Amino acid sequence: MADVYTPKQRELLRLWQHGKLRRINLLEGSVRSGKTWISLVVWAFWVATMPKGGNYLMVAKTLTSLRRNCLDLLQELVGSRYFSYSISKKEARLFGRLVYLEGVNDARAESKIRGMTLQGAYCDELTLFTEDFFSMLLSRLSCPGAKLIATTNPDSPQHWLKTKYMDRAGELDMMVMKFLIEDNTFLNPAYVENLKKEYVGVFYDRFILGLWKTADGLIYRQFADNPEKWMVDTADPDKIDFISVGVDFGGNRSLTTFVATAVLRGWSGLVVLRDYHIEGRKGEIDADRVAREFVGFVRGLQAEYPHAYIRYGFADCAEQYLIATLRRACAAANLGLKIGDSDKNEIVQRIICTNTLLNTGRLRLMRRCTLVRAGLESAVWDSKAAQAGKDVRLDNFSTDIDILDAFEYSFERFMRKLVREAV
Ligand SMILES: Nc1ncnc2c1ncn2[C@@H]1O[C@H](COP(=O)(O)OP(=O)(O)O)[C@@H](O)[C@H]1O
Ligand SMILES: [Mg+2]
Repeated sequence: MADVYTPKQRELLRLWQHGKLRRINLLEGSVRSGKTWISLVVWAFWVATMPKGGNYLMVAKTLTSLRRNCLDLLQELVGSRYFSYSISKKEARLFGRLVYLEGVNDARAESKIRGMTLQGAYCDELTLFTEDFFSMLLSRLSCPGAKLIATTNPDSPQHWLKTKYMDRAGELDMMVMKFLIEDNTFLNPAYVENLKKEYVGVFYDRFILGLWKTADGLIYRQFADNPEKWMVDTADPDKIDFISVGVDFGGNRSLTTFVATAVLRGWSGLVVLRDYHIEGRKGEIDADRVAREFVGFVRGLQAEYPHAYIRYGFADCAEQYLIATLRRACAAANLGLKIGDSDKNEIVQRIICTNTLLNTGRLRLMRRCTLVRAGLESAVWDSKAAQAGKDVRLDNFSTDIDILDAFEYSFERFMRKLVREAV
């Protein structure tokens, strides 16, 4: 009979069978190494042996990511007879036990969990939780024999999970098990080779090698070293599915910027077609001026790509008044594009997506897009934040960074279609 688990996964199963799980059990390491799969198997087995009347919780950054990463897989693993869930009720049943479902980002999650007494908790992508949320969660695990099972990819060595928990595992009744891509015997070698090509630098160290590494220096070093490699002089209109424009509104010290990006058919890649900024700071320009210049920008694109569909404009969602003005102006000018809010992804996720697209040759820039080029070349990690264990792009109010915001708004709604996982 073919093996059902990888040797590494068996190691964890043996710990469970011999009653050697701890109060906190963390599976960490490379992407696609088999952590989530086995964590759910062990979680299900364990919950099935625990009291029927206990409170159980499964939590991820958001309910959407919980479902995507864990709930459907858990249902596949144990069958819908033993695991069913309702996202709207935020409840599931696992072997007859009631399991609450929560997203860390949900404003009410914290106060709800604060009032619970938990028998068990499952955490997906633990580094994405706040330290406060996690310590509060641990304080609720107060039943005898209570356990927490969590998975995560590595982050910064200064991350709270590393310094306050993993490095003190001995004192904390905590078990940490490292998983590497090589441990996943179910992946075919060609797939692994391609996966490795998606990452360079700190992301390679973390997601492929499974190391806790600081993000410092240039964010897109590969690009800065040789920008020519990503430049093109034309974009084939037949390959363009649609064009999407990102808009970042200027502040007191920054400019309003537009970036038009072609999304290629089959989500196969992106070409940055045109970039632009409005000269003049806040106070010097008003919403009407922004709207007027935006209409001009889109008309220029229409003239250049008469057969392409300029489908969306995505603007900074914090600026609803400006968005309303833009929407009105586009309707009045009969431009036929939808104006929407920028997505609320973390900047780090946009960075990981951009990096993957660069590394796999799926992001190109028209040579004239000197603003986006300068933005990618000069983007650096914030060294102060890095000392505190956080990955933050330095924002020194330079236009270089504003243009990257606009660039990212143009495609972030499609990130999950463009890359396998934005991690
Ligand atoms: N025991 C297993 N049996 C079959 N396939 C597995 C098993 N463990 C992992 N896999 C495969 O490997 C992929 C990655 O595993 P996953 O647990 O999602 O990795 P991680 O959580 O470490 O990123 C899964 O999507 C699945 O295709
Ligand atoms: Mg996983």
